[in-house]
Amino acid sequence: MKKLIGLKKTKAAVFISGKGSNLENLIKFSKKKISPISLNLIISNTSYAKGLRYSKKYNIQKKVIFFKNKKLAEKKIFKILLKKNINLICLAGFMRILSRNFIKKFKGKIINIHPSLLPKYKGLNTHKKAIENNDKYAGCSVHFVTAKIDSGKIIMQKKVKIKKNDTVDSLSKKVLKKEHLLYPAAIKKIYN
Ligand code: GRF
Repeated sequence: MKKLIGLKKTKAAVFISGKGSNLENLIKFSKKKISPISLNLIISNTSYAKGLRYSKKYNIQKKVIFFKNKKLAEKKIFKILLKKNINLICLAGFMRILSRNFIKKFKGKIINIHPSLLPKYKGLNTHKKAIENNDKYAGCSVHFVTAKIDSGKIIMQKKVKIKKNDTVDSLSKKVLKKEHLLYPAAIKKIYN
């Protein structure tokens, strides 16, 4: 992607379904001068997503789009993204699978954060799997989104050591801290 630092920032949307700690972290990052993106839209598939509160806190437009009818939902999202000139979609705990057709329309412009050292542990319960398999390391990955789940090109990863007394909870907290460093770093890498 072209170099944008110092020029106009790329407009980004973050898609969430839950807590939104990565969302808040990306909002804070986007406000920095060195950030190649501005954050202009929050999309959630559920009105229960706690992260939606950051819309008011940071004055960023939010849209809740239910995915009961995926085709219709994606059509609505696509329209909003075009209207707002969004050029990057950051998935952050978004619990819906986007269709091949939607991904094609935004080819190379959708990225995701996943709490494992991909290609290990695609899908859910990544920390549980890492502990049960006695792995030495866990971690997180930011990757481009393709139609195959958690399988697109990896942009960047960060590792954490799994200690003997780590639980799913302690490990997920440690990894989440790394996620908050990783997502901005991966975005900077894309635009450099
Ligand atoms: C993170 O662990 C992320 O890697 C995964 O979902 C979680 C979202 O956390 N995809 P939050 O909503 O950003 O706090």
